[in-house]
Amino acid sequence: MTTNAKNVIVLGTQWGDEGKGKIVDLLTESADAVVRFQGGHNAGHTLIINGEKTVLHLVPSGILRPGVQCLVGNGVVIEPASLLEEIRKLEAAGVTVADRLRISRAAPVIMPYHIRLDQLREKARGGEAIGTTGRGIGPAYEDKVARRGLRMGDLLDARRLKKLLKPVMDYHNFVIQHYFHDQPLDFDNTYQQALDWGAALKNNITDVTSELHQLQNAGKSLLLEGAQGSLLDIDHGTYPYVTSSNTTAGNAATGTGLGPTDLDYVLGITKAYTTRVGSGPFPTELFDDNGRLLAERGVEFGATTGRPRRCGWLDLVALKRAVRINGVTGLCITKLDVLDAFEDIKLCIEYVDDAGQPMAFPMSTSAWKAVKPRYISLPGWKTQTRGITHWHDLPENAKTFIHTIEKYTGSPAHIISTGPDRTENIIRHNPFSSHST
Ligand code: GDP
Ligand code: IMO
Ligand code: MG
Repeated sequence: MTTNAKNVIVLGTQWGDEGKGKIVDLLTESADAVVRFQGGHNAGHTLIINGEKTVLHLVPSGILRPGVQCLVGNGVVIEPASLLEEIRKLEAAGVTVADRLRISRAAPVIMPYHIRLDQLREKARGGEAIGTTGRGIGPAYEDKVARRGLRMGDLLDARRLKKLLKPVMDYHNFVIQHYFHDQPLDFDNTYQQALDWGAALKNNITDVTSELHQLQNAGKSLLLEGAQGSLLDIDHGTYPYVTSSNTTAGNAATGTGLGPTDLDYVLGITKAYTTRVGSGPFPTELFDDNGRLLAERGVEFGATTGRPRRCGWLDLVALKRAVRINGVTGLCITKLDVLDAFEDIKLCIEYVDDAGQPMAFPMSTSAWKAVKPRYISLPGWKTQTRGITHWHDLPENAKTFIHTIEKYTGSPAHIISTGPDRTENIIRHNPFSSHST
């Protein structure tokens, strides 16, 4: 590993829940450290090992590989109470976390008023609600950009914390009371809570950027774990129905302090179909029996909020866009087995308008609403692919399905996932190695 060190980004190319957690866990067999670079505990990453399920929100998905270091970069927003609870649960299950987890001093803190504001705003939006996870993600990133936010390092200095917290709480309490007509938050309680969080996490809070540089100097391989998906990106997604961070590959550098030229490979994960949680455009969404079959076979319920996920066919127009935005080196297609029961499988290959004319990539909600997907239909394979680990064992129709995705997006499918378990994969090319199998 030390001679051929590589740094690999793993991210979602859709609206999240592509199976990032599973694939990060799989690939950390070849990595020395895993780093989160954006998002917060809005993420829900599911790992299944020997039938046992673990859902991670903030702790990187390398934690179930003993010896792999886990880091949370400056681009991540951290709600310390949830993080402490996640650590407690993992440790209760026998996983060592405290010694292996490093948290950036520069990561913004999600405070109780951010959570309150997120929920009050969603309520106020009524029918236009974004359908956020209600975790305070948006308001915490706003405070970062407004240059008034607290960072994890600030929790370690009582005097500085008090000085910073007072004006920011006055500001948010004013909005909570006078704009939303809700109860203000208590300063003393919040201050004490923040001090307690700092005390509990003080051994984990550090200069993550320097630690990453040291790992690099020592020839270690790093895996950068994305959260959410490219269509939820604040700049490139279906704005305003997006999350508040850049979920795309460029932020793997900014959100950690690694340089863009340090990053060798981008693995773009896509389901063999599409899902979305929350509101917003979704051209290939299905409201028929096929949609219900995808939801049922794919067990499509949010890992963080438990909400049912909207389901539809794979959208190759959006995927191709995501491949370019992220500079995807190779694709990972997950949940192929979910399609085992389908007679015919559709792929959206073009966006057209009401008159059947080709459309440019939509740049507004109204343009998204005008999209009519144009599909090609491929015959299903109607046989079990679940658990297949060799390419040559796949049915021909499944190979054709995968080749069609490769051809349309111009990106090779390096990994195919055929079930939720860590072992259920076809690895055609391991991103950490220089040769294909
Ligand atoms: P993430 O947010 O991208 O990590 O994805 P989630 O964990 O939220 O959602 C993915 C879901 O699909 C989880 O329940 C996984 O256990 C499951 N999953 C992942 N890969 C596969 C696969 O190839 N087949 C099936 N049937 N389930 C999968
Ligand atoms: P993982 O990492 C799917 C969605 C929410 C909402 C929008 C904004 O598991 O793929 P936010 O709370 O971030 O302000 O909500 O983004 N969303 C996700 N959808 N998977 C996720 O994470 C998500 N994180 C946020 O449903 O539509
Ligand atoms: Mg998820």
